[in-house]
Amino acid sequence: MINTSNSALAINGGIPVTREPVLIHKPFLEEDDFIAVDRAVRSTFVSGDGPDCREFERMLAEYLGARHVLFVNSATAALELAFRARNFPAGSEVIVPDFTYTSTALGALYNNLKIVLADVYADNGSIDTSKIERLITSRTVAIAPVDYAGIPADMDAINDIARRYGLYVVHDTAQSIGSLYKGRKTGILADISTFSFHGTKNMTTGEGGAVVTDDDALASRIRVLREKGTDKHSFLTDNRTRGFYEYIDTGNSYVQSNILGALGVSQLKKIDLMNGIRKDIAARYIDGLKEISGLDLLRIPEWAQPNWHIFGILVPPGNRYWVMDALRAEGIMANVHYSPLHLNRYYSHLATDDAMPGSMEFFSRLLRLPLYPSLTHDEQEKVIAAVKKVFGT
Ligand SMILES: Cc1ncc(COP(=O)(O)O)c(C=O)c1O
Repeated sequence: MINTSNSALAINGGIPVTREPVLIHKPFLEEDDFIAVDRAVRSTFVSGDGPDCREFERMLAEYLGARHVLFVNSATAALELAFRARNFPAGSEVIVPDFTYTSTALGALYNNLKIVLADVYADNGSIDTSKIERLITSRTVAIAPVDYAGIPADMDAINDIARRYGLYVVHDTAQSIGSLYKGRKTGILADISTFSFHGTKNMTTGEGGAVVTDDDALASRIRVLREKGTDKHSFLTDNRTRGFYEYIDTGNSYVQSNILGALGVSQLKKIDLMNGIRKDIAARYIDGLKEISGLDLLRIPEWAQPNWHIFGILVPPGNRYWVMDALRAEGIMANVHYSPLHLNRYYSHLATDDAMPGSMEFFSRLLRLPLYPSLTHDEQEKVIAAVKKVFGT
């Protein structure tokens, strides 16, 4: 039972579990990454779509079992391109989970599409598939499910709805590199998928993202859109002799530097190792935190094998900020992560009458604990000790 006035707690003046803060996330960058970047810089091919970018795209396509991977400078750009490639009429509707990062919605908004928010499950933040169909209208063109915490959304159910209504599925896999859905990797489960390689993700290129699709037409359009509307990619590939390339569309500058391609290659080589360490730490937490009254873990459906991007705990709603502050006082830098889109100023006009009960409950209970490959055994023990102390176990 939580006793907020327990004087042994650091928040109440007691001695903290650790005076050396345990941070919430750290990228796993080692000698092989430094060497890769150094080599790429020394090659002097530092601009976009270079040989290391192409090698990274080839390796990621092989890792996922996908036909096309396009490395771009963020998942936000990838989402924008995923919608842009389809030229949907302005005002068409896209169903987006209420509990996601703003980028899932921005991708559609940049293309003059309208966001329709869907509720999520209160116990893991994933789009509630039983509530999608009621949101479909004659203007709906797409669904954009998100793999919150690296737990795959129920893609078979979503694809089935999409097939019946003729909708495009943009799978926001920003958090789920290496996760499995019914034994299949995320990234190949929808019309198009979008990864993030931001510094907080399971593998990183500093900033970065990728569009993944098996659709040749989508891939070739996005290849042009990400390179300012030019056919420079095929110019470089075909080695044509005209000496210039053509402007065949509009677009933006979303290609990645070759330096970051090199980092992508070195990080991807060890993604399974890094995810494996995360899995071991998560197993230690699950064991260490079991049977704490008032504390639940995110539900992982039986068909999901997450990449443990986030280790979330669900705490009593009224105590959430107090638990976070109490953990921080103990030296554990827990945090909250997103707030439901409709609670944010920009999206407040999208609030609906049913008030998103799943999303609100999930948000009111969620806290994240530190989880990353370089987290030492000692730090893991401190995290467990601090949670138990705060919960009075
Ligand atoms: C679900 C989701 N979508 C998109 C993004 C955006 O990623 P990026 O920073 O690469 O644009 C994030 C980033 O945290 C995310 O969590």
